[in-house]
Amino acid sequence: MTKGPLIFEGNEKQVFATDHPDQVIFRYKDVTVAYNNVKRARFKGKGALDNQISAILLDYLNRNGVETHFIELLGEKEQLCRKIEIIPLQVVVHNRIAGSLAARLGVEEGFRCPNTVLDLRYNNDELEDPFINRDHAVALGLATYQELDWMYNVARRVNELLVPLFHKAGIELVDMKIEFGRASDTGTIIISDEISPDTCRLWDEATGERMDKDRFRLDLSCVVENYRNVLNRLTEAIKKEE
Ligand code: C5P
Repeated sequence: MTKGPLIFEGNEKQVFATDHPDQVIFRYKDVTVAYNNVKRARFKGKGALDNQISAILLDYLNRNGVETHFIELLGEKEQLCRKIEIIPLQVVVHNRIAGSLAARLGVEEGFRCPNTVLDLRYNNDELEDPFINRDHAVALGLATYQELDWMYNVARRVNELLVPLFHKAGIELVDMKIEFGRASDTGTIIISDEISPDTCRLWDEATGERMDKDRFRLDLSCVVENYRNVLNRLTEAIKKEE
């Protein structure tokens, strides 16, 4: 497999073509953004940590019957992925109510809800990723009702798999965002993008400390140190699984 030209550059990632028509290379950058790109910074080493954490989680999902775009880790900052056509939707899974949902519902940060709450957002920078419902998604032609049912079911399954895995690492998975795409080789809907401290809320079970992007959003210190801690603990948790 040979690395080809850059085909997409986002704030936090680059995507390169390869000599395989259905495979691309994701390269994680050290840049981080929040609040719809209003806040931006560079943390040396963060890209490599996100890449490795996402690789562990996506590989774990693949091995447990949830198809993702991840194929293999190529190096510190790069991973080989299946090529997909992006579905511009985000399914957000909440095990507790925190962040923007806490503000929207007027409850305290970390409110323990009896159920798992799923939210749908339209991935659109200009509109600042608005919350939408299934009817809106179908109206915009982004997915069919059947496909939305599939994505919701997969998101619940991902949560069922990752909550206990993080728990083994002494980390509570508070919420996470999942994205999907249509695989270019099979046309099936699979998980795309990343699952990492940039896309999840992760709280230390022992101390309640935040170990995710909120450290940057809320101007807390030790962003990279916390991401490294997540990687180390997940690596140990995976070893115990095997
Ligand atoms: O910002 P909000 O509180 O709605 O985020 C809910 C969850 O979705 C958090 O884990 C956050 O990191 C993630 N998220 C994301 N990308 C976005 C918006 C939210 O990964 N564009």
